[in-house]
Amino acid sequence: MAMYPKDAGFAAIEEIRSAAIRNLPHDVADFLETGAGTESTLRANREAFGRWVIRPRPMSGVSAPDTSTTLLGIPLSVPILTAPFGGDAMFGADGHLAVARANACCGTASIVPEAGTFSFGEVRAAAPAAARIAQVHPLDSFDAVVKRIRAAGYDALCVTVDCPLPGFRVRNRVNRFTPDAAVFEGNAVGDGTPSVREAFAGLASGAASCWGWDQLAEATARQDLPWIAKGILTAEAAETALAAGAAAVYVSNHGGRQVDPAPASLDALPAIARAVAGRAPVLLDSGVRSGADVLLALALGADAVVIGRLAAYGLAAAGETGVRRTIELLTEELRTLMILSGLPDIASITPATVREKP
Ligand SMILES: Cc1cc2nc3c(=O)[nH]c(=O)nc-3n(C[C@H](O)[C@H](O)[C@H](O)COP(=O)(O)O)c2cc1C
Repeated sequence: MAMYPKDAGFAAIEEIRSAAIRNLPHDVADFLETGAGTESTLRANREAFGRWVIRPRPMSGVSAPDTSTTLLGIPLSVPILTAPFGGDAMFGADGHLAVARANACCGTASIVPEAGTFSFGEVRAAAPAAARIAQVHPLDSFDAVVKRIRAAGYDALCVTVDCPLPGFRVRNRVNRFTPDAAVFEGNAVGDGTPSVREAFAGLASGAASCWGWDQLAEATARQDLPWIAKGILTAEAAETALAAGAAAVYVSNHGGRQVDPAPASLDALPAIARAVAGRAPVLLDSGVRSGADVLLALALGADAVVIGRLAAYGLAAAGETGVRRTIELLTEELRTLMILSGLPDIASITPATVREKP
């Protein structure tokens, strides 16, 4: 008897990554995979997951775990979202349109990037059930961009607080990588606010004015969508974000692409979760590569986990189908581990589910 149906497609995340790298020009693959500096943060993100084990529970009695949850009122079939990654058409022609459609099929949600190839409105129209959160940079164009996000019908903002300029990414420098700016400009097009394009060009070149928390608190108070602070790595920054009005804290080192060396996201998570203490949901990204990683992050205090490169690999491997298969594989592994560890639902995944390797 065959163990797997013939139409299962990709059997493992690693097959999807290999197909993605095969399909991409060398410099685009490097742009996707690169970290900043010596890439020690990039490596640390992975090493951090390796320091934890899941405690199996034999004869668990759990045969149909419920992976569903909600985040800021958004229902999720599994606590996985896709990260905002800009320049998406470099990885697959339909970029975040395909990512959002895949999320809609899976019952998950997209965080749609400001620096994406398609506008917030286009992505929302492609998959309104999944395109729920819009990522925005704290730049002088903030008010104009948020107005369009609101008009497009998004439920929440995700403000990236760790990227006033791109990190020092050596692989891109060595490759003299100069992608067509158009793949980042889906949201920088004329609506009578030319400052959007200028603010963006400033960010890319490192010349944008770098906001402080007070300025962000004032700008977010001028609008009514709940906002997530993306790029938090210390309990102190989490407190500051909440004091500034954030509705959720997003633990992230931008996939190792900004500060190098910086703390691994997973290492930073427990102290941040303790500091937040249930006042707001906590998200985590940076280094998630498997369903086991999802479970470890949930156990250490995340309410939901976000995938950046994994989603981009799926897109580059097979467009919408590739992203969908990525989410399916993560979900299947998470579900398997929940059965093997006696975890009937997401709320039952706690610090007691895991322990640090001796
Ligand atoms: C190619 C690429 C482009 C990205 N662009 C953005 C962006 O425009 N805005 C943003 O907030 N984060 C951006 N990120 C960071 C991701 O949102 C996310 O934090 C990171 O990919 C998570 O780490 P992971 O790739 O290990 O999952 C980008 C990441 C990649 C790989």
